[in-house]
Amino acid sequence: MAKRKKVNSPTPHWTGAKAPKLNPNQIPKHVAVVMDGNGRWAKQRGMPRTAGHEAGEAALLDMVHGAIEIGVKELSAYAFSTENWRRSPEEVKFLMEFNRQVLRKRRDEMNELGVKIVWVGREKKLWAGVLKELKQAQELTKNNKVLTLNMCVNYGGRAEMLDVAAAIAKDAVRKKIKPDSLTEKSINKYLYSPAMSDVDLFLRSSGEQRTSNFLMWQSAYAEMVFLDVLWPDADRRTLWHAIEIYAERERRFGKA
Ligand code: FPP
Repeated sequence: MAKRKKVNSPTPHWTGAKAPKLNPNQIPKHVAVVMDGNGRWAKQRGMPRTAGHEAGEAALLDMVHGAIEIGVKELSAYAFSTENWRRSPEEVKFLMEFNRQVLRKRRDEMNELGVKIVWVGREKKLWAGVLKELKQAQELTKNNKVLTLNMCVNYGGRAEMLDVAAAIAKDAVRKKIKPDSLTEKSINKYLYSPAMSDVDLFLRSSGEQRTSNFLMWQSAYAEMVFLDVLWPDADRRTLWHAIEIYAERERRFGKA
């Protein structure tokens, strides 16, 4: 029998804060986070926007620990969108290089925590060095079971729908599928990550109330929580607070 891998426990929060006690059915299985407000955080401090992104790394790391502590099974982070290419060449370059470095620096820690890293996004335009790092992190952590961390890099909901439509059209032309027998379930296997579960809780920081093209299909029934904290000031307590709000919501999925 294969030996079970030993995993590290998450590190407690530095304040000693503990996860709220909730019933397991009140804990979202999949949380999607839009890490917004890095630029404003930096501006408030007279720093370049890139300093805000740097400060945002710790917030995501702390949320990973906090997600494990409370029992979330899947966390999706919007690290770079298909629309972020419109930013200045300097910021794009910084974000690409930063993603590459963070993955390289953190993959062992993630692996030891039992985190499975999955890249979710489009290959076209993505820098080769970033793609290589994403694939290496994915390979290293592929058997982990504690938490799935979907790193959404060069991701856009509409781009994903477009790629799904093109792949389905190709399969239809090749007679691999019959258009009339398509179902919602059969669409899933054309998504960037077919194994991804539906988003239960969609969390955005910074006070902006938009989904910005993040996981459109997967978030159809997600509970939306918008918190007035800039991303670099967020940590696992922000996630837990959002989960407490989520726990109060009544989810009906279209039923009366
Ligand atoms: C949105 O803030 C943030 C991004 C476009 C980049 C997200 C990247 C991070 C949070 C850094 C962490 C990344 C990794 C790989 C750990 P914004 O720049 O739109 O902020 P603003 O709305 O205040 O201008």
